[in-house]
Amino acid sequence: MISIAIDGPAGAGKSTVAQKVASRLGYIYVNTGSFYRAVSFYLICHGIKIDNEDLIENTLPKINFELKFLNGKQIILLENEDISQKIRSEQVSTVASKISALKSVRLHLLDMQRKIADENNVVMDGRDIGTVVLPHATVKIFLTASANERANRRFREIKKGDKDITFEQVLNSITQRDYRDSKRDIAPLKPAESAIILDSTHLTFSNVVLKILEIVRAHCQNNN
Ligand code: DC
Repeated sequence: MISIAIDGPAGAGKSTVAQKVASRLGYIYVNTGSFYRAVSFYLICHGIKIDNEDLIENTLPKINFELKFLNGKQIILLENEDISQKIRSEQVSTVASKISALKSVRLHLLDMQRKIADENNVVMDGRDIGTVVLPHATVKIFLTASANERANRRFREIKKGDKDITFEQVLNSITQRDYRDSKRDIAPLKPAESAIILDSTHLTFSNVVLKILEIVRAHCQNNN
């Protein structure tokens, strides 16, 4: 099976890029952030506090979420309800960033992620795909952009929904998530040794997609 790992900080554009790359290659797109988000959503709905690690660990097997792929697009179901949109809130983002530091949570989700990549050609995005989940991924990309640019993109996105939030609040939330994601002890956000680093600060979405497709093609030609 072929696997393309795309890691990077929040707001670097991983999911839109990864989804497009997957559709161009005819692979399945797997957004691993949504696994952490689904767990977080469940914990929030059930009033489970994020500092109660024992309770979270005991709860994990009860969280009945599954992924479905429709036309290469991933949707996420919790007890048969499509929660793909509900898990995008700022509250879920913050909880996901916090609980993703817990060993029990990471171990629980690791197997699910590996199983999908064992059975399908995938473009998988996250924080630790190239370093931990798929250390033997065919191609590893680390997609980044300046914190300012990432906050700007996120701010524009949120504003479309007319939400009452300032740019400074978005930048602050991105900076705090960067810190938590990269400073945690287990599977911190960092480029894999063999990852190709792409800085998208001054690149358009299409440029990034084209660059990744070039990298994948070059890799496949060299290995044929
Ligand atoms: O990619 P995202 O912003 O939807 O991810 C939400 C949180 O989940 C992020 O702050 C860190 C965590 N995460 C992780 O630790 N490892 C992954 N492979 C994917 C996400």
